[in-house]
Amino acid sequence: MNLNGRTALVTGSTQGIGLAIAEALARAGAQLVLHGIEAPAQGEPIAERLQAAHGRRAAYVQADLMLEAPAADLVAAAENALAPIDILVNNAGIQFTCPIGEFPAARWNAILAVNLSSAFHTMKAALPGMRARGWGRIVNIASVHGLVASVNKGAYLAAKHGLVGLSKGVALETATEGITVNCICPGWTETALIQPQIDARAAALGGDRQAGIRELLREKQPNLTLLPPAHIGEVAVFLCGAAAAGITGVALPVDGGWTAQ
Ligand SMILES: NC(=O)c1ccc[n+]([C@@H]2O[C@H](COP(=O)([O-])OP(=O)(O)OC[C@H]3O[C@@H](n4cnc5c(N)ncnc54)[C@H](O)[C@@H]3O)[C@@H](O)[C@H]2O)c1
Repeated sequence: MNLNGRTALVTGSTQGIGLAIAEALARAGAQLVLHGIEAPAQGEPIAERLQAAHGRRAAYVQADLMLEAPAADLVAAAENALAPIDILVNNAGIQFTCPIGEFPAARWNAILAVNLSSAFHTMKAALPGMRARGWGRIVNIASVHGLVASVNKGAYLAAKHGLVGLSKGVALETATEGITVNCICPGWTETALIQPQIDARAAALGGDRQAGIRELLREKQPNLTLLPPAHIGEVAVFLCGAAAAGITGVALPVDGGWTAQ
């Protein structure tokens, strides 16, 4: 895959799936703007390590995507830090599980802001430059929960289904302009985001973490394996490459068979 000369912004790329996507894009030749909620003292060393490992320039930008103004300004901040953004990966996301009757409104607002509204703001800001250059790749990290439901995930479901719909709409608006817009819909992936759910399941099983993971997988994910974040990274690289130029508006499950059931 040759992404030489392309510049990518990956939101929420200090760890987990976002960092794996950034690493895969750097291996494919792109230079990177990493982003996270963490302070520069934590984020900049991650960018320095990426630059040293792959020989591509990398910068770090901090922004709290729970707030509208930093989300609206993120693309400009990334372009100031490095270069015009050709590849935008909206990956930042948070989770909270709770029955609808007890779901705190503040959690609803936070999940909608970080997991959905931030992608609206970054796409709106990145598209004029992509249009002017006649090339762009937008990859939005949704979830199996953008396609199907599970209990106690009202806000996450609303945000991820919304992200899939928004991505399809923007794909249609940009279809003739050399720009593609797609979602990746991961199943259970081994990151910090799912630790509270593993811990809760393990606690119900007497504290056995491996048993908790086995239970979660048996319930939903037929391959019975937590996905390595690196696999999501490689799928993102594929969607940014020449062979995927005709793929736009899709929501691609990477879910060990979850949504085949
Ligand atoms: N892990 C899974 O099983 C799984 C499955 C499906 C989809 N996803 C999605 O993948 C994406 C990445 O998840 P992950 O598992 O790597 O999570 P993670 O918790 O490991 O990483 C989350 C990232 O989001 C950033 N972030 C958190 N709150 C933020 C805020 N307010 N403003 C800006 N950035 C913020 C953090 O800096 C971090 O880099 C999310 O959108 C998540 O919904 C994860």
